[in-house]
Amino acid sequence: MARKTDLASTPPGVGAADRRGRPAVAEHEPAVPLPPTVFVLFGGSGDLARRMVLPAFFELAQRGMLPEEWRLVGAGRRDLSHEDFRAHVHDALTEFGPSPDDGPWEEFSKRLRFAGGGFDKSDPGSLLEVLGEARDELGAGPQYVHYLAVPPSTFAPITEGLVQHGFAAGARVVYEKPYGTTPESFRELDNLVLSLLDEDQVFRIDHFLGKEGTQDLHVLRFVNELFSQVWSREHVRRVEIDVPEELDVADRAEFYDATGAALDMLVTHLFQVAAEVAIEPPASLTPTDLQAARESVLASFRPLDPARDVVLGQFEGYRDLDGVADDSTTDTFVAARLWVDTDRWRDVPFLLRTGKRMARSAQRVSLWLRTPEGPVDVMPDHGNVVSLSLSGSGSLDICLVTKKPGPDLVLAPARTTLDLKHVPGGTPLPPYVSLLHDVLTGDRSLFTTSDGLAGAWAAFAPLQERPPRVHPYEPDSWGPAEAGALAGPDGWLLEQRAADEA
Ligand code: BG6
Repeated sequence: MARKTDLASTPPGVGAADRRGRPAVAEHEPAVPLPPTVFVLFGGSGDLARRMVLPAFFELAQRGMLPEEWRLVGAGRRDLSHEDFRAHVHDALTEFGPSPDDGPWEEFSKRLRFAGGGFDKSDPGSLLEVLGEARDELGAGPQYVHYLAVPPSTFAPITEGLVQHGFAAGARVVYEKPYGTTPESFRELDNLVLSLLDEDQVFRIDHFLGKEGTQDLHVLRFVNELFSQVWSREHVRRVEIDVPEELDVADRAEFYDATGAALDMLVTHLFQVAAEVAIEPPASLTPTDLQAARESVLASFRPLDPARDVVLGQFEGYRDLDGVADDSTTDTFVAARLWVDTDRWRDVPFLLRTGKRMARSAQRVSLWLRTPEGPVDVMPDHGNVVSLSLSGSGSLDICLVTKKPGPDLVLAPARTTLDLKHVPGGTPLPPYVSLLHDVLTGDRSLFTTSDGLAGAWAAFAPLQERPPRVHPYEPDSWGPAEAGALAGPDGWLLEQRAADEA
């Protein structure tokens, strides 16, 4: 199956639209028309749906990337009328965009429905009735997509309910994170899901994999000799995956206090991005080969050594937030040194870091290159670094050691940045838009598999078994000093660059 990494099959509508001077929001013509689809959004009136899923769905409508015929049914415990739900979606779009005023709101809103009263094996609430109506409107045999934007405790009962009430056969089911909160709960949930659904019906979403910059990790490297040649321990001395966030957690303190940075970000987003960096060349860039390559390398992640390789932190003032326990030891920061035991990466540290209330916000993957053998053995600090920003539409940043222009032979680092949104004819998609579209087309390359997640949980398990002490750090800082030591004398790239610029 062709997917967006099959460069020769870029859909005609997107590039052509720009050349004809139409607005950035342009018609997209799918290579194969999508079947009539009923999209059931569990947690339809919840926070995640409001911030992420509904705006992404509307953006797909704006870009002409939805099937010709579709219905979106919000499902939840509350008893909202269809009209109330439309007003809710309108508010969500007004707050989180794209604005409903930019169209096609009228057309879009007519296809929204709501089914209240909850949903599980014994009680389907009003969902059966509403889905029956949607099916009558669309004709026989629509494609069902069930999107579970709900707390993980309800993944199992909803999945059982889908089977019990006859909506599972042939359906695609999307599970938000966290898909399990311990190795055991992951295994229990996954066993249940796979006893009821086939693996290829299951879409475990990790939105970092949908980022344009992340997708470029498996494109740049396999289509450019410049990168494919250096992508190994012979040429790379360390890999850094650094996602500091200025963000607070006040608006979701209760969830966060029960979760923490390591669960929220490390075993999920950062491990998946590390796998994207570490993969062996897949047989092809088809969804199956790409997914298999990324997920198989997770099995080579060495289980973390919490005492030696992990630093946890909590920003000062965190315990004063409403919803946070006064004696909370939840981590709002984690830095880890991960080892990938493959021939390609043996002994190259993968430094992973993320935290809340930090000095900067960034999402950066950096490969520090070794000094080539030859006449020069002392190089400027952090000189040769290939780095990708995953924020927004992504950018590639290359820092090379050059001759400092002038009379003397002095070495100095010089940087250039390629903004990926400027690739001619490109229309970058936000990650949720990209991944929702993949669900609609049945493309699983950017979704995690059962085996892949098992590898991630196995590497993460020691941290839950033997968590190290949580160090305090000042808000707006780079985290606890101990994390600096983890990076060694080179320090963390973002921090070094910030210091250079100061
Ligand atoms: C979410 C985490 O999955 O990703 C948040 O729960 C984090 O804590 C967010 O802030 C980062 O996402 P984004 O959209 O900034 O890439």
